[in-house]
Amino acid sequence: MQPLLITIDGPAGAGKTTVSRSLAKRLGYRYIDTGALYRGVAFEAKSKGLSHDDDVGLENLCMSLDLKFVFAEEGSRLFSNNKDITDQIRNSEISMLASAVSARPVVRRYLLDLQRNMGNGKGVVFEGRDMGTVVFPSADIKFFLDASCKTRALRRYKELSSKTSLTIDEIEQDINQRDENDRTRSLAPLKPADDAIIVDSTYLSADEVVELMLSHIGKCMC
Ligand code: DC
Repeated sequence: MQPLLITIDGPAGAGKTTVSRSLAKRLGYRYIDTGALYRGVAFEAKSKGLSHDDDVGLENLCMSLDLKFVFAEEGSRLFSNNKDITDQIRNSEISMLASAVSARPVVRRYLLDLQRNMGNGKGVVFEGRDMGTVVFPSADIKFFLDASCKTRALRRYKELSSKTSLTIDEIEQDINQRDENDRTRSLAPLKPADDAIIVDSTYLSADEVVELMLSHIGKCMC
């Protein structure tokens, strides 16, 4: 089979990261978490004291940024200007700030080219919000992974358990707020592409979702 470009979009906590990583491993593909790039911009904006709506400041920041993934057996690491920031971008403050800066056209423009360059050569699974609609409208296979809000909050809670003092209810509120921001922004809002395969993972394990996706990939490529 020719190497494919596969996109997996969906809201926060739907299981995209686990599923995308595992699907990529099964296919021998690279896996790219584009949310980490938005988090990287948010992290650097915060370090420089920039407000999420300071477009001039964000544009200058993006022009000076060098974000890249370094791929390793244990997973990929995100480097910003040669500094490993992987462990500093996973907290609720950066989550909210990433959602806010992702609505700014200057940030989306900067990351669009970066993401498209990362897709050269195919054999890659891209995870995000607008992979199938905007970044790779001609992707070979597009999935939209969803789950109920309660399920997503519970999964995020388990994932963060030792690293957060937030309750499940607070995590659910954060997720709802981010969904609202991501779905209603005017530029590249979170939504399934017209030709996306919708997968509801509310009652499915990550392994079951991966098997389902592999069967769709097999069928689509016949
Ligand atoms: O997938 P994540 O939770 O790490 O993403 C963080 C934020 O980045 C998310 O709230 C919206 C934004 N994002 C985006 O706008 N487009 C993408 N392709 C990926 C993430």
